[in-house]
Amino acid sequence: MSERLEDIAVKMVANGKGLLAADESTATIKKRFDSIGLESTETSRRDYREMLFRSDDAMKKYISGVILYEETLFQKAADGTPFVDIIQAAGSIAGIKVDTGAKPMAGFPGETLTEGLDDLRERLASYYKAGARFAKWRGVIAIADGLPTWGSIKANSQALAYYAALCQEAGIVPIVEPEVLMDGAPGTHDIAKCAEVTEWVLRTVFNDLYDARVNLEGMILKPNMVIDGKNARKASVEQVAEQTVKVLKATVPSAVPGIAFLSGGQSTEEASAHLSAMNANYDMPWALTYSYGRALQDSALKAWGGRSENVAAGQRAFTHRAEMNSLAAKGSWKKDLEKAA
Ligand code: 13P
Repeated sequence: MSERLEDIAVKMVANGKGLLAADESTATIKKRFDSIGLESTETSRRDYREMLFRSDDAMKKYISGVILYEETLFQKAADGTPFVDIIQAAGSIAGIKVDTGAKPMAGFPGETLTEGLDDLRERLASYYKAGARFAKWRGVIAIADGLPTWGSIKANSQALAYYAALCQEAGIVPIVEPEVLMDGAPGTHDIAKCAEVTEWVLRTVFNDLYDARVNLEGMILKPNMVIDGKNARKASVEQVAEQTVKVLKATVPSAVPGIAFLSGGQSTEEASAHLSAMNANYDMPWALTYSYGRALQDSALKAWGGRSENVAAGQRAFTHRAEMNSLAAKGSWKKDLEKAA
């Protein structure tokens, strides 16, 4: 009865579908709720996520899987239905963020090492039992004067590779996420610097995945796009698409079934435009789609504002973003479709 990793991975990047990253940690979702003046409690987090997961049209048509935080994986909707059941009923797959965060790296000022390997084998077994069929681990690489260092790239890459091996042992598809930050401080690097660092990171990660005996056909890569820092944004949509595809082609084996980007602080429209430009203009061996957090949720969070009477408005906003990104995953997003809505 156990599903093959390869089949789950292919389903995660099915044509016109992508992932909803709703795995904000308790600290991160508090920041998001602060922006709408809402207190973060177990109940408000439940209500917000229930609004998203019960957006039936969006979930059925555009969302192949949802990345959850541990609290949500085991949480129930207001009427007592487990969230995992709601997600599965929409034909979507439940996934789980399993790292315990990027912590300051000893001996490497300004850099972080993502932690969470210690009891991961046991946690994966319990997540599998709860219905999770894929997982996520995010390593974070910052660009600044003299950064990143080889030491931090290598340490983060090895942690990602062993995490991926443990996932596959547990029957869970690993999303391997090495994020080169666009919105880290100082955020003034240009697109060429991002290309250089992203290529270095991805080469290292795929070497380490090989050394760790990870089955590339049973994983998904979640990279940043190649883009200039948030305080120096000037690259065009075409440049971002061209540079991103170039770096991916140089580093990602075609055995990998799919690449699902993070949005990383891009505006919602930018995230759709960039993805669409890649799919419209380049032939690639992998499916290229979205695994967006902010770029799928920002407008829904605002429209909802923490009020039960706005649930329908929040769901409309979420469905619109999901539809725009679904079009982008097929290379057919257009700016006028945003205005029309
Ligand atoms: P953003 O799309 O908001 O960057 O979040 C995606 C994610 O899961 C980061 O780990």
